[in-house]
Amino acid sequence: MIKFQPLKNNIKNEWNVFKGIPFFKINRHGKNIKIHYGRQVLYMQKTDNVFIFDHPLIQHKVSLLRDKNTSSKEFRELVSEISVLMGYEVTRDIPLKEVEIETPLAVAKTKVISGKKLAVVPILRAGLGMADGFLQLVPMARVGHIGIYRDHETLEPIEYYCKLPSDIDERDVVLVDPMLATGGSASGAVDFLKKRNVKNIKFMCLIASREGIRRLHRDHPDVSIYCAAVDEELNEHGYIVPGLGDAGDRLFGTK
Ligand code: PRP
Ligand code: URA
Repeated sequence: MIKFQPLKNNIKNEWNVFKGIPFFKINRHGKNIKIHYGRQVLYMQKTDNVFIFDHPLIQHKVSLLRDKNTSSKEFRELVSEISVLMGYEVTRDIPLKEVEIETPLAVAKTKVISGKKLAVVPILRAGLGMADGFLQLVPMARVGHIGIYRDHETLEPIEYYCKLPSDIDERDVVLVDPMLATGGSASGAVDFLKKRNVKNIKFMCLIASREGIRRLHRDHPDVSIYCAAVDEELNEHGYIVPGLGDAGDRLFGTK
């Protein structure tokens, strides 16, 4: 069970509203997280691994994504832009090493990325849109692909493709998919990665449902979840409501 430690206020009752899922938002760095709950602002210690981005640019772009009148072209651009913005924070803990660089005036002791290997793995199809954005930030990352689709009747994930870099077990992996609905696809994709001995996996999505977060946490509590929004419900077809519809169809103009 995930736990937060309140630093101020007793918020036990408030958290009950969230049905046992604690949320916090990244809006400043450091150990303590500022949470806006209604009109209250609560300070919590970060002990969990669900990150919700409340940056205004991300929130604005997610609203445009949700709009049913947004075209596929705009949708693709927005998914890519949000992935860049989220990727900036998701890569915050990449290790650095100190180097010496000659400036025109002197030698500077400065830092560069230490060469820790990274891979981005989109869940096909819709994850492709996010991988593009992420690669703009980290162009040297390797790319793996995991093909999973949901059976429309059972909502169970069906795997149909998996191609990963041969040294994937030596890499930190950012798994990307715009939607975390029942959580079956993400959980199945993490299973694939763990079978290949990947140790450090982060899952980056745009919209998560509470149920999806619960499922992914239950199956893989070690995997951090980064998302731009958490929606309340799934409908009888397993779609996130209000969500943004079928992410793959909207990205690629299919039906
Ligand atoms: C969507 C989405 C996720 C999955 C989420 O893919 O991109 O992969 O559904 O649902 P879940 O959390 O309930 O598993 P979809 O199955 O529609 O395949 P597609 O990307 O090929 O359209
Ligand atoms: N897959 C999608 O593309 N959208 C949803 O809302 C749920 C699953």
